[in-house]
This record gives sequence, structure tokens and C-alpha cells, in this order.
Amino acid sequence: MKTEQKENSRLRWIDLNPAIASVDESTDIIAGLTQNPKTLPCRYFYDDRGSELFEQICDLKEYYPTRTEQAILETYAAEIAQMTGSCNLIELGSGSSRKTRLLLEAYSEIVQELEYYPIDVSSGILKTTALDLLRQYPKLKLCGVAGTYEQALAQLPPAELENRLLIFLGSTLGNLNDEQCNKFFTQVQQALKPGEFFLLGVDLQKPIEIIEAAYNDSQGITAAFNLNILNHLNQKFQGNFFLNNFAHWAFYNQIDNQIEMHLRSLTQQTVVLEALDLEISLQAGETIRTEISRKFHIPTLISVLESHSLQALQVWTDPKAWFGLILCQRQCINTECP
Ligand code: AVJ
Repeated sequence: MKTEQKENSRLRWIDLNPAIASVDESTDIIAGLTQNPKTLPCRYFYDDRGSELFEQICDLKEYYPTRTEQAILETYAAEIAQMTGSCNLIELGSGSSRKTRLLLEAYSEIVQELEYYPIDVSSGILKTTALDLLRQYPKLKLCGVAGTYEQALAQLPPAELENRLLIFLGSTLGNLNDEQCNKFFTQVQQALKPGEFFLLGVDLQKPIEIIEAAYNDSQGITAAFNLNILNHLNQKFQGNFFLNNFAHWAFYNQIDNQIEMHLRSLTQQTVVLEALDLEISLQAGETIRTEISRKFHIPTLISVLESHSLQALQVWTDPKAWFGLILCQRQCINTECP
């Protein structure tokens, strides 16, 4: 009981998720499902069940990104902390924070009081993780933020005295197309003050067989993860997607250097999302694209970062260069410079 009180005094909670589906949310689903080809925003993967399935994906032998990024952090977390010095840590899409623990450990060596702001759309996993981290790290103060990246970046916790390190791991950046990526970097640039840091983990280009296997695992967990997006929509928007009428399909698009995940309609069917007042029809064989997962080329990515005043200070990769971590520092722009 005592410990719990102590833990609670180190825990704060901010919920940016609107209690009911916002207009914004519906427009983005309606737009996706009424265009040709059909698409869905991939953040709908992550209801509590989806977040659980994603955790299982991270442990699959075929899914190399998580363990590769983890290995890079095991080797370089202390160096990253050295380079930034004392910082508050803010993480977009923190999930179970499993890799971030390595950073929490490295930073707890160099700061008096460790402050961590995990941000995630799935409040279930955020809560469980928060309590677990507080038990594990006695120096830690934690503020969980439930919300999307856009919401969170627009209202980041103030810098106060400490510099901040914004953390974006797991190659979630790969879910954004060029335009969304530029918009995201602009938000990062605006959210950070000159001198503050941005740590970005990205999946890199490599032989196609390795990439395709990672999204077509033999146990069918990725398929279940992909299909679960329909369950989430059924629940959230009173839909009647029948999961048995869809099949998982993932392939590497070599022109755009991206994995594409789709759900293929197995029959000609109509589906209704009552809460959105939306009815869609699908041909047999027609697909809904649920995710892109881009595979990056570091020099190209660095020039995009630099065009947003995010200067790459250092890049770390694993020995095979399958995955990369880039530490950037926000530069000052004209009027901000002394
Ligand atoms: C967490 C978005 C980076 O794109 O590899 C895993 C999600 N999708 N298997 C990825 C995912 C299918 C993952 N990201």
C-alpha cells in the first residue's frame, strides 16, 4: 500500500483522446474507404488487442526490427545519453516501452531525477507499462499521455529547465508517406526548442525476402494483427465487417521501397459502419490497404531531416545495417539565432 502511494505520487496522467469519436476521426476513415484503392489509417491497429498482437509480433523470429533496434540500443544507449546530457524523455508510440528501458537505465545514470512522458493511442498498454516502470525505476517520475502523435506534438510538456529528448523508435516513421512525413517533421521542429534532441529509429533497405518474411510470419500473428483492425472498427463505429470474408496480404513494393499490408475481400460484399453512416461495397479480390511500412536509405532521410532544421549528429546501426538510429539536434532558424 505504501509503495503504491509512493508510486502514485510519481505518476501523472493526461488523456488527449476524445471520449466519443471526433469528426476528424470519421473523415479520415470515410475518405480512406471511399477512395480507390481503399485504405485505412493504420493507427486503428492499436486497440488493446492490437497492441497485444503487436507485442507478439515483436517476438517473432521473422520480425527482425525489434530485436535489431534493441541490440543497437544495448550497445549505444550510454553513448546517446552522454551526447545529449541530462534530458527529459518524451516518447511517441511508447507501447510497452520495452526498448526505452535501455534509455531509462542510461539516463538514470546521468540525471538526478528521471522524467519520462510515454505517449500512446492505446491507454490500456500505457497504464500497465506505467505501473511496471514505476516499480522498476525508483528515481522515475512518469506522465502517461493517451493520444495521437499530432495531438501530443501540439501540446508537448513544457521544457522548463531541462532539455528534452523526443524519442520515436520502431520505424513507426515508416507508416507515413512523404507528405505525412514532412508534416510530422515540421511538427517535431515546432515542438522542439533549438538545442533539443530527437532520436529516430528506422528500418533500412535490405534483401526483399527478409523483409517480406517479417510481414508474413509462419504463425499468422501478423495476419491476425492486420484483421484485428476490422474488429476495432466494428466496435468503435458499429460496423459489421465479417473477418472471415477477408485475407491478409503483405508484399514489398520495390518502387516505393515499402511493405504494403492489405486486407483482400474474399467475396463481393457490402459493409456498413453505422456510426459513420457509411456503406461500402467491395468486389471479390479488391483490397483495403491498411499500412505502408517504408524501408529507408539513411543519407536521403538525413537530408529530409536537415531540411526541417533537425541536424543529424550521429547514426548507429547493427553490423548488418538492417536498422538505424539517428540522433538529431534541433538547429535554430534565422530569427531564433542569437
Ligand atoms: C510498428 C509500425 C513499425 O511497420 O513494421 C508490424 C507495425 N505491421 N507488422 C511495422 C507492423 C506489421 C510496425 N510498426
